[in-house]
Amino acid sequence: MAKTIDLSVDLGFIQLKNPIIPASGTFGYGEEFQAFFPLDILGAFVLKGIYKNPRKGNPPPRIHETAAGLLNSIGLAGPGAEELKKIIKRTASITNTPIIVNVCGESDEEYLEVAKIFDVMEEVSILELNISCPNVKAGGKCPAQDRDHTFRLVKQIKENTQKPLMVKLSPNTHDVPAVALAAQEAGADCISLVNTFLGVAVDLKKRAPVFKNVFAGLSGPAIKPLALKLVWEVAKTVSIPVIGMGGITSGKDVLEFVLVGASAVQTGTINMAEPCASVRIIKELEETMEALSITNLSEIKGRLKL
Ligand SMILES: Cc1cc2nc3c(=O)[nH]c(=O)nc-3n(C[C@H](O)[C@H](O)[C@H](O)COP(=O)(O)O)c2cc1C
Repeated sequence: MAKTIDLSVDLGFIQLKNPIIPASGTFGYGEEFQAFFPLDILGAFVLKGIYKNPRKGNPPPRIHETAAGLLNSIGLAGPGAEELKKIIKRTASITNTPIIVNVCGESDEEYLEVAKIFDVMEEVSILELNISCPNVKAGGKCPAQDRDHTFRLVKQIKENTQKPLMVKLSPNTHDVPAVALAAQEAGADCISLVNTFLGVAVDLKKRAPVFKNVFAGLSGPAIKPLALKLVWEVAKTVSIPVIGMGGITSGKDVLEFVLVGASAVQTGTINMAEPCASVRIIKELEETMEALSITNLSEIKGRLKL
């Protein structure tokens, strides 16, 4: 491999050795994957979303395969913030790769409480605010579905924390760029998108929805074109870095997201089908860049020719 290829990414507030970041909920708490490959090869990784208290999540079934993707209704199960602190200490002892905590909340107060808990952990590099969680006070609507709510919440978190804040957007709202702009105006350091698209699976024999909650989140290759559209629209709208995701399975996919404006990417569902996907994708990215005479991703970022 030619030495001239530089995979590093400068997000302004952090330098990553490469743009590959396993996405929340598809990479456990990181430590589980150390058995497959050294976590040190990654640009960074995001932990499964966390609330203040332990959560059981939704009743089964929680996962359903579709033609080109996966529907999930996990319900953000997790061990709670205190237990996660212990897990992070363990994970940080086996890698120097930046750890990103995916902050969840059923209310603005809970988001803030959780963000503050991880803000003071030196092992944590970035907080990713998952504003796609149903908000109890907002009648089950998530903050990402409302630009004013997004602005209020992001501003409150920024005013009370020190770490870089990545705000993760939902595609399930009609004006995603407006929500991205609200997050930027409130002080977000970068944007990540997309979370899963709401979908329905039908059980013909039962003549009923597969999932108890009826709706579930669609991820995987099926959503890649939809995600590329939204990442492109958001990257044109904001001036802070955008981390793109949705159906990425190859090095070529990574370059497509960079061309529409992403500075780095997150890889989700592919990690569940192929635990070593990150190793392959990083290698493919380097090979494809060499074949296309690209030495650094900044050369093509947002350079989609129209
Ligand atoms: C099983 C599963 C669990 C997920 N859990 C979370 C989560 O806890 N927090 C979050 O922000 N996103 C979560 N996501 C969404 C992913 O991080 C990612 O945004 C989405 O799957 C799109 O990327 P992909 O198509 O590459 O999977 C989850 C996705 C899946 C498939």
